[in-house]
Amino acid sequence: MKPIREQVKQKPWLGWVLFLATMVVVFLLGLLASSVMERREEAAFAYKPQVEHSQFEPRNEVWGQNFPQEYNRYRETLDTTFRSKYNGNAFIDMLEEYPELVVLWANYGFSKEYNQGRGHAYAIEDIRKILRTGAPVDGKSSPMPNTCWTCKSPDVPRVMNEIGVAEFYKGSWETLGHEIVNPIGCADCHDADDMSLRITRPALKEAFESQGRDIKDVTHQEKRSLVCAQCHVEYYFRGDSNYLVLPWKNGVKIEEVIAYYDSYNFVDWKHGISKAPMLKAQHPDYELFQSGIHAERGLACADCHMPYMSEGGQKFSDHKVQSPLNYINKTCQVCHREDEKDLVENVYERQDKIKESRRQLEKLLVRAHVEAGKAWELNATEQEMKDALYDIRHAQMMWDYVAASHGAPFHAPIESSRILAKGINIAQEARLKLSRILMDKGFEGEVSYPDIPTKAKAQEYIGLDMDKLNAEKEKFMKEVVPEWVEKAKKREATYETKDL
Ligand code: HEC
Ligand code: HEC
Ligand code: HEC
Ligand code: HEC
Repeated sequence: MKPIREQVKQKPWLGWVLFLATMVVVFLLGLLASSVMERREEAAFAYKPQVEHSQFEPRNEVWGQNFPQEYNRYRETLDTTFRSKYNGNAFIDMLEEYPELVVLWANYGFSKEYNQGRGHAYAIEDIRKILRTGAPVDGKSSPMPNTCWTCKSPDVPRVMNEIGVAEFYKGSWETLGHEIVNPIGCADCHDADDMSLRITRPALKEAFESQGRDIKDVTHQEKRSLVCAQCHVEYYFRGDSNYLVLPWKNGVKIEEVIAYYDSYNFVDWKHGISKAPMLKAQHPDYELFQSGIHAERGLACADCHMPYMSEGGQKFSDHKVQSPLNYINKTCQVCHREDEKDLVENVYERQDKIKESRRQLEKLLVRAHVEAGKAWELNATEQEMKDALYDIRHAQMMWDYVAASHGAPFHAPIESSRILAKGINIAQEARLKLSRILMDKGFEGEVSYPDIPTKAKAQEYIGLDMDKLNAEKEKFMKEVVPEWVEKAKKREATYETKDL
């Protein structure tokens, strides 16, 4: 091709075409630059604080004035329309689904009511309503301590700041009912000065210390998980003052956690049928997640549960924390190119397989409990029973560690399977030991499996009077809760905020 200069000499109109084309390009670039500037200004405007409030402001709607996008998505956690195969934000009565659990928790609060978790904005409503917190009305107190409020509300850091941490945990659950009224929110995870992520729950900081680590040394990516680990972890209430402790001193693997509890002879409750010294796992999502491939590859909880969204040219984190299966295109497909259908299938396949072993262990544990019950009936001694009961304690804790972490079958499928396999083995050991005791006592044949096809039948079998519990709860909800709400409103009206 000839050089441009020569071409223009031959065809002068070409010069004009080139000149005009350049003008158009310059004009378009100018438009683009101006649009970028405008967007930037818009963004700056959107983040312009509207209101000034304290570090401990518990009301999400006040923070929401400054950050409407995050707040509006947070409010969406009230949505209950998505149900995946096993999880989602819809209400699922786990005892109705798996009546065996009622027997596994005989003589413990969980046998009264246990549901699959809903969205964060329901935290306060749900803890008030659940039968486990009882009906503290007419001078009666709740069976639970104030420690139970710890993972429910941004009022928790506020009250801890006012009265002290140990003082917060003390006392029965209803004594702080009028203080803890706002559901999980902004102040739980953010510093009000610069909106950086902050850890507000002392138990997590103390757990790091118990391992010789300082939580201040973590990376930003780790923080995107640790804000969740303030609540989605295994814990227990230590001593009469019900001090909240995460049993991480030896590590977070199930064997290390069990060794920790055994070394303190810690017992959550004595089983109603087998009299075994039981442990209850809470929701070790953070712990089990560590042994999965996604943690290994450096992902944090927020990568799948708070993916980035875009609105009006602004990128922000989705604060509708929920099942990632409700929007695969924003979660998994950021990294995986497979179809939505295949990715969902990957999740379900892992969940189905783990459920198979979990159900097997559930049924073995029911058998072990009733066989131990039979041995007591035939006058077995503490000494004879001790080993078998410890096996039941360990096997059920292994079952619970996986069962109570609703995300584990996907987060860490291999580790979940390993734990369940070990639990099945230990439960069978317990049954072997029990069958020897039963034979010694002259009992031959099989201890019959209880008739527990439904939650109602299982609750009747373990001797719960559900009508009474429900009626008391209803009274509490009608008479006490409105008083709490009223008292809180008056207190909050005195909080200082400044419109800017
Ligand atoms: C469970 C913890 C948690 C709660 C509760 C929470 N956030 Fe966030 N927030 C996060 C995480 C994680 C990020 C991502 C931070 C990062 O990667 O730097 C974030 C980011 C933000 C950002 C930075 C911009 C963005 O969207 O990435 C703002 C602003 C924000 N949150 C506001 C709020 C407001 C307002 C509330 C209350 C309605 C709230 N957050 C509640 C965890 C939380
Ligand atoms: C202050 C305690 C607390 C913090 C912090 C917290 N959660 Fe939760 N989370 C809860 C409670 C309590 C529930 C159950 C609420 C209910 O059922 O009423 C829950 C429910 C959930 C659910 C089920 C919601 C649904 O609709 O299916 C998911 C998923 C979840 N949390 C993930 C996270 C992630 C990820 C983080 C960190 C970004 C986090 N949570 C931080 C306490 C917390
Ligand atoms: C690689 C993506 C990914 C990461 C990272 C991740 N999760 Fe999940 N999580 C999932 C999937 C998928 C499910 C199953 C959802 C379903 O069955 O509907 C799930 C389920 C859950 C559930 C139960 C959801 C429900 O609806 O009740 C909780 C709670 C949870 N995860 C918390 C966490 C926490 C805490 C972390 C960080 C320690 C974390 N997740 C990290 C993908 C992830
Ligand atoms: C931020 C990136 C990222 C996101 C988001 C993500 N993954 Fe992954 N995923 C990975 C990486 C990295 C691996 C490891 C594969 C490797 O290294 O080759 C992996 C591995 C997997 C595997 C194979 C591991 C196993 O368990 O056998 C499956 C299945 C999978 N992801 C499904 C999902 C699903 C479903 C989601 C959404 C809920 C998701 N991933 C979200 C990055 C991601």
